[in-house]
Amino acid sequence: MQMKKVLELLNSEPSLIEMNVKGWVRSFRSNRFIALNDGSTINNLQCVVDFENFDEELLKRVTVGAAISVSGTLVESQGQGQNVELQVSKLEILGDADTEDVKLTILSPKRHTLEKLREQAHLRIRTNTFGAVMRVRSVLSFAIHDYFRQKGFFHVHTPIITGSDAEGAGEMFRVSTLDLHNPPKNEDGSINFKEDFFGKETNLTVSGQLEAETYAMGLGQVYTFGPTFRAENSNTSRHLAEFWMIEPEVAFNDLAANMDLAEDFIKYVVKYVMDHCKEDMAFLEQRQQQEDKTKPEAERSPMPLLEKLQFILENNFKRVSYTEAIDILKASKPNKKKQFKYLIEEWGADLQSEHERFLVEKHFKCPVILFDYPAKIKAFYMRLNEDKQTVRAMDILFPGIGEIVGGSQREERYDVLKQKIADMGIDEKELWWYLETRKFGTCIHSGFGLGFERLVLFVTGMTNVRDVIPYPRTPLNAEF
Ligand code: 4AD
Ligand code: MG
Repeated sequence: MQMKKVLELLNSEPSLIEMNVKGWVRSFRSNRFIALNDGSTINNLQCVVDFENFDEELLKRVTVGAAISVSGTLVESQGQGQNVELQVSKLEILGDADTEDVKLTILSPKRHTLEKLREQAHLRIRTNTFGAVMRVRSVLSFAIHDYFRQKGFFHVHTPIITGSDAEGAGEMFRVSTLDLHNPPKNEDGSINFKEDFFGKETNLTVSGQLEAETYAMGLGQVYTFGPTFRAENSNTSRHLAEFWMIEPEVAFNDLAANMDLAEDFIKYVVKYVMDHCKEDMAFLEQRQQQEDKTKPEAERSPMPLLEKLQFILENNFKRVSYTEAIDILKASKPNKKKQFKYLIEEWGADLQSEHERFLVEKHFKCPVILFDYPAKIKAFYMRLNEDKQTVRAMDILFPGIGEIVGGSQREERYDVLKQKIADMGIDEKELWWYLETRKFGTCIHSGFGLGFERLVLFVTGMTNVRDVIPYPRTPLNAEF
């Protein structure tokens, strides 16, 4: 017997050869038509049972959610919506799903809110929406590796547990095996981390960048793609405490080359999904349009999903300096009319998501790369410009998302870096190895970090990062 996936069968011609397929029941109509889904595609396989030939007790167990195995031949479909269907000769229940129990879950066949689905994150992958989102997420992840391999990058696995704070922002989760109730103490009463597992303080990484930089100094061009952790108390639709980040790092690239790389990379992976996920993307576009109907005009997506993605492919990202952006924001209507929550009064202000979105969605109406930010609001490792006020930073801002990429040219000058580390009050001893790369064959180099969930959000048209990662980790939430 040939074992098949629904996807393969739906793309096959009718045949007299018996096939077997296993999956979960999505619906069972007229005691005759089973809609079977096995996750391989958004589409269901219609399986036709002649109830006269099957035991009534067996058919009663074909319920929504049940796992079944069916065998039969593929025949031309009489009904609408599919070319072929399976004429079932053998039916086996692999796992029952009690109808009364199913009614209490999101598996019950009716519309459930995304909030409700989040509460049952272990079951939501059985819905069309999550099937589509997670297949697209998987294809995007493949496209990312594909892009960098083609460009001659090497994938490096940077550590998850680290002794340093790569962003210098102190938003870290501690890793420790010390007894919380009775930790060993130093004479001054502070905790003695020399007795901890690693003999020092450690935390979950906030970014693989620093280690990636050291590898770019040997392999030339590298990227990491791993989980990163931030203990920032941000309860927004864009922030997770655990998220995945893609971080390329390239020796001899300046900031302009870094922008070119980021733009080319994003366009490649977006196009890849458009080419390889047609059915899921068509479904997601429809889903977004339906959801938009329930929203006030101002919150609706200005373009259908696929048109929006096509627009990204066809247009250059607009490159604008921070200083220009501040001038635009200062003179903007929402600033003058005091509609921004944080008014832009002077150069040096940190940009909030409302400002980023104004620039992208209202002013430029296309993706924007902001560069040359004030040194004061950016991390220690960014290269100081000749004006001594700004650094060679770049953020890419996307419509509906805000910041999707953060990156920079790195400070490659030993003395300047040492000074910046001191100025920001970071203990130089923690970063001795990072500083040392500036002593042995230092060179200009650049890189960036792309938040994977924000990319998935953009590509799928979903609106909350909690709905594009299987099990979201956010403040006060680590269920599952
Ligand atoms: O701007 P960030 O903090 O930059 C860095 O971590 C650099 N070390 C990257 C580099 O240059 N190699 O983060 C980069 C991106 C952001 O633009 C955003 O897309 C995403 O990571 N990001 C988050 N995504 C989800 N939840 C959070 N809490 C995020 N914080 C950042
Ligand atoms: Mg950033």
